[in-house]
Amino acid sequence: MSQAAEATLLVRALRREPVERKPVWFMRQAGRSLPEYRELREGAPMLEMCRTPDLCAEVTLQPVRRHGVDAAIFFSDIVTPLEGIGIDVEIQSGVGPVIAEPFRSEADLARLRPLEPDADLPEIAEAIRIVTAELGDTPLIGFAGAPFTLASYLVEGRPSKSQEMARTMLLEEPGLFRNLLERLADIAVASLRSQVEAGVQAVQVFDSWAGSLSEATYREAVLPVSQRLFAEIEDLGVPRIHFAVNAGHLMEAMAEAGSDAMGVDWRTPLSEARRRLGEGVALQGNLDPTVPLAGPEVLERETRNLLADAPERGHVFNLGHGVLPSTDPGMLTELVGLVHEITEKRN
Ligand code: CP3
Repeated sequence: MSQAAEATLLVRALRREPVERKPVWFMRQAGRSLPEYRELREGAPMLEMCRTPDLCAEVTLQPVRRHGVDAAIFFSDIVTPLEGIGIDVEIQSGVGPVIAEPFRSEADLARLRPLEPDADLPEIAEAIRIVTAELGDTPLIGFAGAPFTLASYLVEGRPSKSQEMARTMLLEEPGLFRNLLERLADIAVASLRSQVEAGVQAVQVFDSWAGSLSEATYREAVLPVSQRLFAEIEDLGVPRIHFAVNAGHLMEAMAEAGSDAMGVDWRTPLSEARRRLGEGVALQGNLDPTVPLAGPEVLERETRNLLADAPERGHVFNLGHGVLPSTDPGMLTELVGLVHEITEKRN
């Protein structure tokens, strides 16, 4: 990693080093809250955009230009690598990923061959190179879907509230489900390794739907696989963030997977997360994504409250989940300025 990359606020905060002011970025900052995104997106299927390096690069850069956030997140989706190995998947607007032939039995394992990023998804590394050249000193975050979350899409075939089919398979055919998770971990590792080689300076693993599991089931069926995933990217030397929604009950267990930082959703106060997880892990989060919808006074009050409750060291400011599409982008620009102003004063 270059000297410049070592020095970014994001990377230092994720390593729990002192920073002049707190870094801030937003999950889903590239996307439907931005009119310039909606304009580009018109007519182009989402996964086709993910295969077009110039478009990906442009959408990744849009929120950085507009809001002055301290990191870009690469514009793609957690199902892109599945498409890369030939799974028939489509992202339907307002719905999410839809799999043409859901994963139902042992025979389906054959469809989950290893990902070869250079051959299967050369557009991603190309887009990352364009973005990092344009970003200058602003770091780029890469990402992957965690095995359980990708498995739940494959088994359910579409977004599902409580992942009933996936959780049933986990109980009824634990060996098959474990195989599925192991293959998806291999795919995530291959994807993340190639993203880092192409220039991303931190990575986030999204286990968005892990919260539907009990702690005991998570620990038995999912944790060992996620632990392997994080261990197999440790040598890359970039900070690793682990995130789930509605998973306060899993916080300690998920932290045992071995990331450098935990993304916290807005339901758990950061002071509670710090108390439960200790000093050894950085925290990212966790403003309720509806706060920017509620007006400037609420935004300032809630941001101040959150920062007063957040650890001084090892905190990256973010929302507790993705930017809601109806968010006024002006409020996000405002929020970036607020976080910078408030945290600069304290240092
Ligand atoms: O700005 C960014 O965060 C970078 C890009 C990004 C997208 N998806 C773009 C996207 C990232 C990091 C993701 C991750 C992702 N994708 C997750 C994990 C994060 C989370 O929200 O918990 C999940 C579960 C998915 C699967 C997925 N893709 C869903 C549920 C949806 C939403 C469906 C909808 O339209 O509301 C998508 C589509 C998607 N991914 C869009 C974007 C910008 C919307 C596409 C559009 O209609 O323009």
